[in-house]
Amino acid sequence: MAIQAKHVKTLVFEVRSASDGARGAARGAPRTIDTDVIVVLQDNAKKAIVPRTIYAQTIEKLRKTEVFTARSGSVQWVRLGGKAQADNVLFVGLGSATELTEERVRQAGAQAWAKLLAEKSKGAAISVDALLGIRGMSAQLTAPRLIKAFAEGFALSAYQFDKHKSSDKNPTPPGRILFVTGNPSLKAQIERELEAVRAIAAAVHVTRDWSNEPSNFGTPEYFADEAKKLARQYGLKCTILGEREAKRQKMGLFLGVGQGAERESKIVILEYQPSKAVNARGAKTIAFVGKGVTFDSGGISIKPSARMEEMKHDMTGAATVMGATLLAAALKVRNRIVTVMAFTENMPDGKAIQPGNVLTSRSGKTVEIINTDAEGRLVLADVLDFVQDFKPDVVIDAATLTGAVGIALGKQCCAVLGNDDALIDSVRRAGDACGEKLWQLPLFDEYFEDMKSDTADMKNSCNDAYGGVIRGAIFLKQFIKKGLPWAHLDIAAMAANVPHFPYFPRRGATGAYVRTLAQFAADF
Ligand code: BES
Ligand code: MN
Ligand code: ZN
Repeated sequence: MAIQAKHVKTLVFEVRSASDGARGAARGAPRTIDTDVIVVLQDNAKKAIVPRTIYAQTIEKLRKTEVFTARSGSVQWVRLGGKAQADNVLFVGLGSATELTEERVRQAGAQAWAKLLAEKSKGAAISVDALLGIRGMSAQLTAPRLIKAFAEGFALSAYQFDKHKSSDKNPTPPGRILFVTGNPSLKAQIERELEAVRAIAAAVHVTRDWSNEPSNFGTPEYFADEAKKLARQYGLKCTILGEREAKRQKMGLFLGVGQGAERESKIVILEYQPSKAVNARGAKTIAFVGKGVTFDSGGISIKPSARMEEMKHDMTGAATVMGATLLAAALKVRNRIVTVMAFTENMPDGKAIQPGNVLTSRSGKTVEIINTDAEGRLVLADVLDFVQDFKPDVVIDAATLTGAVGIALGKQCCAVLGNDDALIDSVRRAGDACGEKLWQLPLFDEYFEDMKSDTADMKNSCNDAYGGVIRGAIFLKQFIKKGLPWAHLDIAAMAANVPHFPYFPRRGATGAYVRTLAQFAADF
């Protein structure tokens, strides 16, 4: 199964050993490889450690003049103009070996990519041996992990969303990236890691593409169609429910949100089964659920116009569980996965739900609508109820649920809440393994007191500014059956426009937590 996302087609990873005649960029290699990439560490005096490469003298000079000291996050481009093997060399600072982490290496890969792009490099040769020759770093940073993290930094950076530009397209990125080693026995290992990184990039880029898609293209029907195509490509079962089926399922909350929209709401169900070849004994069933509001105008409780265009990203929860499911399938995880994505538009019109309306959920519980802009929890409540029919062992939902999560935690982590600390811990551990942070917020049942309604079983909002993330989650909890471990990820602040991670695009969708959820599916 060849998996390749649209936007990584240009990034070709290859492995060469130095003896193949591709030492550095040079001999025999086509001129499309114009840059050698060398990582450099700092010594205790915070100076660059001069590695034993053909570039030792160059680094020595840069070190003396303090132009480049290998400070963590720094890059130095040197134009050699044909005097050496390659036209250019790019030094990438990693800081000191003792402080080196996988995430640091991932970010270094991204910084290297940004420089290659800025300098219009056509292709680069990465010296794997410089990366692996590091002394003094943590023993956990094994060769495969270092290679994977560095390549991931490249692959996650190699993303552009310019399908809607007719001119002034983004600069052409470097086409080929060689991983060069003088140790031929490493080749197979590197190739294995690069294969995983290709799958990661393909999945994350699907999530980004979906999230970035303007809502006049990215309609519920569009995502249902795309999901069907991708499911076929990845060997997943895909079922699509329209409004007729949702009505039969008595999904009154989900349908209520879409009531004011012209476009039909859709629910997409994906099922992944580990193949017989995979040792899947003791396999568990993981349910992923995603909020897919393709545009959130707020409905009758309409949002202010400032930055309303960002509400095209309000389906990123669905895009995230989609990416995670594709990645888990590509990596052939041993657990079963059922993924449910609920796509709808939140629009105001003559048929739209109104504040004060009472809706009946699939579970039978009734909800008084206080604020039509608290629509994500309505959409999720019915599909959370629905997915439990598949008898999952755990349920994890992802949603751009509240603006409050950004107020509480900023743009460094998402919030995780749920009814099972062990599950939350394992999701967090999966995040740690990927360099993605999650922070737990409390979910005491007492928080539900505020959500009780005079008219119905509960209300969907309190219309004040207290504990918004928790209230969103405590609402969802009412639809989880007792004893079923469930975790909720509020990714509203991390979904898009997170400029300070070098491997996230400066603007637009990030694809955050795709890797975390796939990792969870692999480890659970
Ligand atoms: N989609 C929004 C949350 C959001 C806000 C996502 C900013 C990304 C950026 C959600 O549907 C919403 O409107 N939530 C309300 C809830 C409130 C009415 C209880 C909010 O956060 O204001
Ligand atoms: Mn809303
Ligand atoms: Zn929303």
